[in-house]
Amino acid sequence: MTPEDESHPLIEVRDLTISFPKRRQTVEAVRGIDFSLETGKTLAVVGESGSGKTITALSLAGLLLPPPECRVGGQILFRGRDVQQMKPRELRKLRGKEIAYIFQDPATSLNPVFSIGYQIAETIKTHLPEVKNVRECAIDSLAKVGIQEPQKRLRDFPHQLSGGQIQRVMIAMALACEPRLLIADEPTSALDATVQTQVLNLLRQIKATRSLSIILITHNFAIVAGLAQEVAVMFRGKIVESGPTPQILQNPQHPYTKALLACIPQPGQRISRLPTVDYSTLEC
Ligand SMILES: Nc1ncnc2c1ncn2[C@@H]1O[C@H](COP(=O)(O)OP(=O)(O)OP(=O)(O)O)[C@@H](O)[C@H]1O
Ligand SMILES: [Mg+2]
Repeated sequence: MTPEDESHPLIEVRDLTISFPKRRQTVEAVRGIDFSLETGKTLAVVGESGSGKTITALSLAGLLLPPPECRVGGQILFRGRDVQQMKPRELRKLRGKEIAYIFQDPATSLNPVFSIGYQIAETIKTHLPEVKNVRECAIDSLAKVGIQEPQKRLRDFPHQLSGGQIQRVMIAMALACEPRLLIADEPTSALDATVQTQVLNLLRQIKATRSLSIILITHNFAIVAGLAQEVAVMFRGKIVESGPTPQILQNPQHPYTKALLACIPQPGQRISRLPTVDYSTLEC
């Protein structure tokens, strides 16, 4: 790392806009957002469905389609380097070695016709060509995420694993290349509550053992409270509120954040109707 790299935040986003030009009308999906993330910190991005969380995350790793399908404006700086100006080769390196991505739908992220071992080995071979014993490295990365008998599991196909195991495999593949930044898009939303807790504990453990930064997209405020130092709340393509987690959770300022937090049922509270966000009172 050069001294220049160290002087920058890990990621810095300035006035990011993302739009999808369509024949009749352009969809302005992200409308000028700014945020930054320091090394070793976790930022949670929360917000309603369709508010732009996933496409923002995809843009950080240069994973959106090029124009004319999608137009990205503003700046995305990864350790001071402009992601949008990177050549395809640099982008591949960025995605393999520096940024790892866990996609929103884990079940479709693995290829059903290849074994788990093959898929992990391919990731290792592509991004860490210097590794001599790929099989050992694959076993080690599965063991690190708590997969029992990892040698045997290498032969399994995705359909032979449970949702929680697939999510662990995804985390193992994401972390095998020791990235600086992990982007996890709702990594636990497809899992039941106990497996959710296990996966979260796993992420917490990994964070404690190495200096990994995480951008975590979630709808779940319990996860936010347990893992993230910073929160950004997205609403209709904008960040309407951001700051340290305790501040946002205990003293939300924006009506959407207040409404979102008010929807969480409190233990012991008896309610006749499930609370919802009243959008008629919110400005876009
Ligand atoms: N390829 C595309 N063409 C047109 N519009 C798109 C495209 N991809 C995303 N969008 C729009 O961009 C907006 C943001 O989508 P995004 O997937 O980022 O939402 P999200 O906040 O991740 O929602 P969720 O919580 O449901 O995952 C949505 O209105 C979506 O319809
Ligand atoms: Mg999404």
